[in-house]
Amino acid sequence: MNMKIRLHDLNFVPMIAEDDVRRRTSEMGKELFNRLGDKNPLFIVILNGAFMFAADLVRAYDAPCEMTFVRLSSYSGTSSSGTVTTSMGLDTNISGRHLVIVEDIVDTGRTLHAFLQTIAGHQPASVTLVSFLRKPEAQVFPIQVDMTGFDIENKFVAGYGLDYNQLGRNLPGVWVLESQLP
Ligand code: IMP
Repeated sequence: MNMKIRLHDLNFVPMIAEDDVRRRTSEMGKELFNRLGDKNPLFIVILNGAFMFAADLVRAYDAPCEMTFVRLSSYSGTSSSGTVTTSMGLDTNISGRHLVIVEDIVDTGRTLHAFLQTIAGHQPASVTLVSFLRKPEAQVFPIQVDMTGFDIENKFVAGYGLDYNQLGRNLPGVWVLESQLP
């Protein structure tokens, strides 16, 4: 792995290696299978950031399952903007379904908090919240993530679906903003 990568005007350095990402996401997919097995869960993938994580999760899910996608956004640049907007909503009936909400990263928790309110009225059979990354120090909204890939420090990261102004999503590992390191 290169020791430094430049996205737009900022330098990023390695944080989580591709092999570790692979190992952990495959474990998580199997763990979801252990919990939900043949219940035909509906994976609701929060775009854009969770696309790569979701692809790895469902590949490790060893039974039939369905996927749908929503697009919510509260971020611009390297900080949260404060409002959550929905530009692509749910197109599937979720009532009575076992839902797995797939998020790339829980930062303040604002995005998931808003989305959970949207689905609460539809009476799903169960809701499992899965996030690839979580920044425990940054969380301000009261949501309970059921499964997390990695807890990280409160620093800006890119890679594995996560972007810095749209760049970096294709990187197979996770990279952290160099200027935020001690
Ligand atoms: P929250 O609503 O504050 O929890 O932020 C969640 C969303 O912000 C995530 O789905 C990401 O799209 C974005 N986000 C939060 N932290 C980062 C980061 O470090 N890098 C890239 N995107 C981030």
